[in-house]
Amino acid sequence: MSGPNTNYDPVEVAALDPTQVEAAVADALAAAAAADSLDVLKAARTAHQGDRSPLALANREIGALPPSAKAEAGKRVGQARVRVAQAYAVREVELKAERDASLLVDEAVDVTLPTDRRPMGHRHPTELMSQRIADLFVGMGWEIAEGPEVEAEWFNFDALNFDADHPARQMQDTFYVDPPEGGLVLRTHTSPVQARALLERGVPVYIACIGRVFRTDELDATHMPAFHQVEGLAVDVGLTMANLKGTLDRMATELFGDGITTRLRPSYFPFTEPSAEMDLRCFVCRGADPQCRTCKGTGWIEWGGCGMVNRNVLTACGVDPDVYTGFAFGMGIDRALMFRTGVSDMREMIEGDVRFDAPFGMEI
Ligand code: DAH
Repeated sequence: MSGPNTNYDPVEVAALDPTQVEAAVADALAAAAAADSLDVLKAARTAHQGDRSPLALANREIGALPPSAKAEAGKRVGQARVRVAQAYAVREVELKAERDASLLVDEAVDVTLPTDRRPMGHRHPTELMSQRIADLFVGMGWEIAEGPEVEAEWFNFDALNFDADHPARQMQDTFYVDPPEGGLVLRTHTSPVQARALLERGVPVYIACIGRVFRTDELDATHMPAFHQVEGLAVDVGLTMANLKGTLDRMATELFGDGITTRLRPSYFPFTEPSAEMDLRCFVCRGADPQCRTCKGTGWIEWGGCGMVNRNVLTACGVDPDVYTGFAFGMGIDRALMFRTGVSDMREMIEGDVRFDAPFGMEI
């Protein structure tokens, strides 16, 4: 189309016809106005401003015009192209602003909406109670002692004055570790830690041991084959049952509230003499409600055993019973938790359902 042409008549070059140019401008402006997105605008720009657009073609024809016609045609096409370019620039600014505004709406994040984060876990109430008991004894200057859950039969029974054929051995149903003659059991109580502490630490000694113990009980609402105990042992010069009673009362008050004390009833354990059962003042009715469901109207809740350390235990552990005396006690933590929280079925405490733990919160 372009190229020297001496006989060129601008009137016959359709692309340069003012009406055609004006129509091309009108088309271009209409397309820009109609573009409702940057992509559509981009396509319209290619069609109306690109190399093959009517105005670009018209521009190219100018070169072929006789010099006398070039100026006017150049001005007309040039102005047309400027108008189109400006219109597209303006429309682009508008569409970008619209896009940015809608991005702000579409991608807005409501930080107040509930999230689908996984719920937090909770510490188990048995653990919380154990921790409180440990803190209480540490606060009194006692040490926390530990012993193995797979225990030597000697520590679990012999050192604690259970004779080989002592009927007390049958008092507790024991898990023996294979082979049975290997002398290992799952500890049936935390009392073997008494003997370990005396041998390892010597006297005077004040220790508390909190741990898991095992008995061949069937799992039901009030029994578990694995449960928790807290054991206390104090051996020093001049300790009496008054010290034992004072310690138990302090523990009861700290864990269950002011005015909650203990009561001792005569009992028997091979490793203490004298021995006693320890009852806790009912912290619900405090002994005032004959209909109380927690203590069944007795005013007291059975909690554990205690007594003055038997001379034979001191001797077995290398302590002179003529110089030293001591007291010991042991009680169930799960049991305390049961009557403390009103849980009537122990199984709930070991099922691992977070809904059981959650109400106890993260209290430490
Ligand atoms: N070990 C006993 C039990 O599991 C409880 C006990 C009784 C512990 C008397 C003691 C104690 O330290 O002196 O039944």
